[in-house]
Amino acid sequence: MTAPKKLFIKTYGCQMNVYDSERMAEAMGGAGYEQVGRPEEADMILLNTCHIREKAAEKVYSELGRFKGLKAEKPDLKIGVAGCVAQAEGEEIMRRQPLVDLVVGPQAYHRLPEMEARARAGEKALDTDMPEEDKFEHLKSRPKARRGPTAFLTVQEGCDKFCAFCVVPYTRGAEVSRPVDRVLAEARDLVERGVREITLLGQNVNAYHGAGADGDWSLARLIWALNDIDGLERIRFTTSHPNDMSDDLIAAHGDCAKLMPYLHLPVQSGSDRILKRMNRSHTRDSYLRLIERIRAARPDILISGDFIVGFPEETDADFADTIDLIRQVGYGQAFSFKYSTRPGTPAAERAQVDPQLADARLQELQALITEQQRARQDAMVGQTVGVLFEKPGRLPGQMVGKSDHLHALHVDDCPAGVGELRQVRIVSSGPNSLAGVLA
Ligand code: 5AD
Ligand code: SF4
Repeated sequence: MTAPKKLFIKTYGCQMNVYDSERMAEAMGGAGYEQVGRPEEADMILLNTCHIREKAAEKVYSELGRFKGLKAEKPDLKIGVAGCVAQAEGEEIMRRQPLVDLVVGPQAYHRLPEMEARARAGEKALDTDMPEEDKFEHLKSRPKARRGPTAFLTVQEGCDKFCAFCVVPYTRGAEVSRPVDRVLAEARDLVERGVREITLLGQNVNAYHGAGADGDWSLARLIWALNDIDGLERIRFTTSHPNDMSDDLIAAHGDCAKLMPYLHLPVQSGSDRILKRMNRSHTRDSYLRLIERIRAARPDILISGDFIVGFPEETDADFADTIDLIRQVGYGQAFSFKYSTRPGTPAAERAQVDPQLADARLQELQALITEQQRARQDAMVGQTVGVLFEKPGRLPGQMVGKSDHLHALHVDDCPAGVGELRQVRIVSSGPNSLAGVLA
């Protein structure tokens, strides 16, 4: 037997890239590669990239520049770029950075082993096709390899919403749902391998409409089917669009025991004028009413969001509306970004907001979010919640995990092991995590 070749993957961006990197590592396992933790050890380096904002995309080129020395030392080293930058700028990458051997877009990962062989033969390989076939069918994992207690599972990919600022519909393509039986089979396999919590992934995961034996299933129906899998303890999903929060999904948040009380529901702005220009097709008021209905179904649910400040033509009054919406909702967590011009998107053509003004708005918004997050976390003290332990902590005897509401949490002198779900009474709240004792 020949010694395995070594693969180093660096992942940028969203959780779907994390999932895709796992699938690519497994596909390359079939081609004789094992994963390593350092680029210096590798026979092949893969960057799984993100194109959502300019900063993320530019990182790729600076990272590639750093591999020059490695490639000089080891001429056989192959370097590949995957992910959304590969999709959007494939040919430009090949032009700008001659040390790149292969470029593979997110819908072509199942062809990676074949591309690697071409690169080994001295060819430059580029594949950014978006074929109709289900790539995941060709990216089956090696059976029974042991897994940690939490896992991502992609059920839906792509987006048809075309928000005016966003590259996703172009880099990930049209919205596609995976069939029900494949999702359930993958979930059962994960549970057999030790997984206790599954986070269903999709760019518009709540628009899921996968084919089942009796027609298309909604996300809620899929969640109820997952709820029946013995050994699976927790279900989460991300990311959702307000317009796809259907009644059955809202109801599941109240009734489905394994569905966790956490919902990431981006609104982007609190101003109707800006929402319209963003092509969001919902209003501030419809979002606020939706939050009310979700909280009526599950009063303790933690709401998380995404915000963009400095979108073209955003005025002080628009921004004030966003701040006001944040005060009304009370976010347990939120991610906020300064608008970044993305080539090819409609908003890129419009009058841009002064960058310093946008910076000031971002700071103000982030200060408010931090205050809300901290207040929500502090309010957990004294409560008893479920915690899934994921790994040992820094101190001897300490275990760390996540609460039902996705707060990081640690327990000192903890008798519970990795993968155990226990009830924990929260005793204190620190800057980044909660501390508790087993109840
Ligand atoms: N500029 C800034 N933020 C963006 N996002 C998406 N596109 C842009 C952009 N051009 C943010 C949105 C989205 C999150 C994943 O990234 O808030 O919900
Ligand atoms: Fe981008 Fe809007 Fe689709 Fe989300 S819903 S992926 S922000 S286009």
